[in-house]
Amino acid sequence: DRRGVVAASLLAADAGHLGDAADAVLHAGADWLHVDIFDGSKASNGALSSMGPQTVKALRRRLPDAYLDVHVGCRDPSAVVETLLADGCSSGLTFQFESCASLDAAKALAGEIRQGGCDVGICLAPETPISAITSLLDAGLVDMVDVLAVAPGRGGQSFDGAAALPKLRALREKYPGLRLQVDGGIDATTAPDAVEAGADVLVAGSYIFRAGDAAEAVAALREAFPS
Ligand code: DX5
Ligand code: ZN
Repeated sequence: DRRGVVAASLLAADAGHLGDAADAVLHAGADWLHVDIFDGSKASNGALSSMGPQTVKALRRRLPDAYLDVHVGCRDPSAVVETLLADGCSSGLTFQFESCASLDAAKALAGEIRQGGCDVGICLAPETPISAITSLLDAGLVDMVDVLAVAPGRGGQSFDGAAALPKLRALREKYPGLRLQVDGGIDATTAPDAVEAGADVLVAGSYIFRAGDAAEAVAALREAFPS
């Protein structure tokens, strides 16, 4: 079985010192850097992040070996994904399922990401049931599902376990080998429930970046994983 992953969400970092913050959080023990790219559209729930493909390039220059877990919530996800693939700086590319024009568009995008050499992720907003993506999962097109436990686009919201936990449980039961990411409202209190339900990748923004000691926060999250 696979080692649990702690992904630090840079949305909560000080944008004026992003490189230093990324560096620091890796030194504090985080496994991955989670980079949210939101364009202010309906697809991003109105949220506009300061991070874009240039940010991913800059992070890659500074941190050649880091796992850059990029989450795209944009009106036209394929255009953004194509730019990211052409840059070749992302490790994993996760797109918001709701922003795809159709199921076929989502399948094509998943195929492009895999073809481009990145891990393929698909993200479900709290209101989207897993039945929406079972055909993609059954076809083996997806490496990781990101189960959002908050409305997409903003950090600092509280964990919606009623939305996220049943989805995690159902996905874990049906797809034992799938990476299952949980994103939104993760802290030392909510992480154990998410892991118990099947999550193996914990994304945390506010909890890590607002902690006095990021290493302690990362260690507290890691406690949720079975040793
Ligand atoms: C929400 C983003 C998350 C966000 C999580 O759409 O995808 O990555 O940064 O922030 P916290 O951990 O503060 O809930
Ligand atoms: Zn995210």
